[in-house]
Amino acid sequence: MATFILSVNGVDHTVEANPNMPLLWALRDLLNLTGTKYGCGIGMCGSCTVLMDGNAVRSCILPVSASADRAIITIEGFSTDGLHKVQQAWLAESVSQCGYCQPGKILTAAALLDKNPHPTTAEIDSAFENNLCRCGTYLRIRRAVQRAAEGG
Ligand code: FES
Ligand code: FES
Repeated sequence: MATFILSVNGVDHTVEANPNMPLLWALRDLLNLTGTKYGCGIGMCGSCTVLMDGNAVRSCILPVSASADRAIITIEGFSTDGLHKVQQAWLAESVSQCGYCQPGKILTAAALLDKNPHPTTAEIDSAFENNLCRCGTYLRIRRAVQRAAEGG
């Protein structure tokens, strides 16, 4: 066990953890931030995506030791008023079905648009490669990202 400072949603948390503990478990089990979801556990589905220093990363394969002193944003801290253009586009396109994968999808979209405000269809599809949705919301996700890029 070791002590780490995790900066999550703008708040510093001191956690005691095995350095190899996946960030996902630190978020869910130590900080009770359960919006970040477990899917595959091997970096292949995107359900566990969070933002780290503005980049979309898969928290199931990221050790807590590599997450200390980085700016981590989870779905809980992404937009407290729900008015982020990505969230509004998600609502307008009725993207979510069961919702399980959607925190990861929304954060993936936000990271994409932050770096590339007007992505092509191919660039959207590339950003969402290996982002699995058992409900099959892929086309709605694409439309929502395009809508958000157009300003909502
Ligand atoms: S749970 Fe992390 S990528 Fe699937
Ligand atoms: S909305 Fe159900 S898994 Fe994606």
